[in-house]
Amino acid sequence: MNGLTADQQKQEAERLFALLSTITNFKTKEKFSYEDCLKIAPLSLRINQLKQKNDALILAHYYCTPDIVYGIADFKGDSYALASKAVNAKEKNIIFCGVYFMAQTAKIINPDKNVFLPPVTAGCSLADGITAEEVKELKQKYSDAAFVCYINSTAQVKAYCDVCVTSANVYDIVAKLPQKQIVFVPDLFMAENIRTELKRRNIEKEVFFFFFSCCVHDKYTVQDIEEIKKNHPSAKIISHPECAKEVSGLSDYCGSTSGMLAYVKNSTATEFAVLSENGIINSLELENPSKTFYSTGRTCAQMKRNTLLNVLGVLENLSKAPKVEVSAQTALKAKKAIDNMFKMAGKQNDR
Ligand code: 13P
Ligand code: SF4
Repeated sequence: MNGLTADQQKQEAERLFALLSTITNFKTKEKFSYEDCLKIAPLSLRINQLKQKNDALILAHYYCTPDIVYGIADFKGDSYALASKAVNAKEKNIIFCGVYFMAQTAKIINPDKNVFLPPVTAGCSLADGITAEEVKELKQKYSDAAFVCYINSTAQVKAYCDVCVTSANVYDIVAKLPQKQIVFVPDLFMAENIRTELKRRNIEKEVFFFFFSCCVHDKYTVQDIEEIKKNHPSAKIISHPECAKEVSGLSDYCGSTSGMLAYVKNSTATEFAVLSENGIINSLELENPSKTFYSTGRTCAQMKRNTLLNVLGVLENLSKAPKVEVSAQTALKAKKAIDNMFKMAGKQNDR
């Protein structure tokens, strides 16, 4: 009925099962079964066929569901790795499985390509936390400061900032800036973590912040850590720098999504408690089948709006699907902040 033979679907289900059998199905909360893979197969097959036919590249953030990350993505990564992949994209069409600011960044980097975000309005509580007008006002007040924006910000905000950063490079970039005063927007928790890290490195800078937080990471508390220590005393605690400073201070490792994946891979410990978005657990399980992971299961509802069905919807109707657009003037200014990030980031863990 879908134009795919039974043999093609069986082969695809086998490919998926080989990838997914060690990880937890977000719907059933159990490990992916062969039957789960048989259900995914017709969609992933069709998407992978159309992607080639339509000269499309699929980029997916680790927070998306595993059928997307492992079934159809050409590249999976954290926000820095995906922005780097967007720089080198050869395809005419980029389908970004993530949230709006990520797809917008890919468009700014590639003004001549078509960029699509399958869940058209998937936003980010942080990126929507500060407006360009507010940043403009701050620039008058802090005229000697370097303005640093988290990549989780709008194109308009990036356009008023000197440099953009991700969780994978924020500390190194802020440390390298010549200015003594830094204004960091819009993540207040990350800004507090920057202060702590600069102090640890004996670098004297004043960090001002204005001011929002991630609705997923800001929920982690010291109490969560106390619970973990009581229930899983051998577990290493890993967290993302969007968590509060009290949480990162009590963590064995605090870093970007790619940083956490690398930490676990290189660690001799066998149990880990993960204070981040639950999607990272899938990649941790897949890459470290002999290790055990504990999580409170917090998820980013916006990231989970990316589905095989809405990706297929874009690919089946590419000429009419809504594209991510940024005005040329804003894109030009925002690109400077993004380019400065690439210049200053140096060699990164490109996963
Ligand atoms: P990463 O930079 O680790 O991908 O984080 C992006 C993000 O949105 C975290 O909530
Ligand atoms: Fe934004 Fe938080 Fe979702 Fe990341 S997890 S995309 S910061 S809302």
